[in-house]
Amino acid sequence: MRSARAALKGRVSLVPTMGALHAGHMSLVRLARAQSDNVVASLFVNPTQFGPNEDFALYPRPRGRDLQMFRDAGVDVVYAPLASEVYPPGDSTRVDPGEMGAILEGAHRPGHFAGVATVVTKLFVLVRPDVAVFGEKDAQQVRVIKRVTRDLMHGVEIAVAPTVREADGLALSSRNVLLKPEDRAAAPAIYQSLRAAMDAWQKGERRGPAISNAVRTVLSGVPQAEVEYVSAADPETLAEVGLTSGPVLVSLAVRFGSVRLIDNVTLTT
Ligand code: PAF
Repeated sequence: MRSARAALKGRVSLVPTMGALHAGHMSLVRLARAQSDNVVASLFVNPTQFGPNEDFALYPRPRGRDLQMFRDAGVDVVYAPLASEVYPPGDSTRVDPGEMGAILEGAHRPGHFAGVATVVTKLFVLVRPDVAVFGEKDAQQVRVIKRVTRDLMHGVEIAVAPTVREADGLALSSRNVLLKPEDRAAAPAIYQSLRAAMDAWQKGERRGPAISNAVRTVLSGVPQAEVEYVSAADPETLAEVGLTSGPVLVSLAVRFGSVRLIDNVTLTT
């Protein structure tokens, strides 16, 4: 990767992925392409961001299909390392993003954002991109990465691409293929619940807890949806809001059986 990087002339963008690519990833590649002369993509299911009872082993790995999709999208370099290359024997250094990584997703997935911050830091050090592209679907990840990039003085611009949705509103996710058919049929309720927040906001609701309740009310009508959290937070700090003039980041995590899905919308005036 280091020698491939040394051969690249002009601006370089990085699209970090864990593979199982879909149209959402392809939109990241397009944004990367629009911002640079060379696109590097990484393909690595990062073990340190999965908890012991999470779906690391089950995470889909359609390697040949992923490489073909990157090729078709015109990616210049794909970095697909082995775990032993990213975490050689004796590896012990971790990047701790602090409080921002301990709330919301971090409260339900302890250590998750340290794993993300560590692998993204390793990728930034190795690839030395001018810009790195992430998806807004992982809203807290974007905030954590922006914070780590600033705090560790990586000097990398962070570009964010909007969430891509199925026609029924379900946000594209590599985990969607793991849903049982009946759960896939019910999962669009996630976006319907976020739409309820958007409707409440449009009608003038400005209380964070009431906005979260609008989301919960929709999801409570879906028997197989097990809500982990619903948050109405300041989009910069991720602190929960009370009475607010906005903007508000409404985010949630919901389990359908063993599959955990996240989504969010931002409410603005
Ligand atoms: O969003 C993801 O797919 C992962 O968290 C990332 C950024 C590639 C780090 O492993």
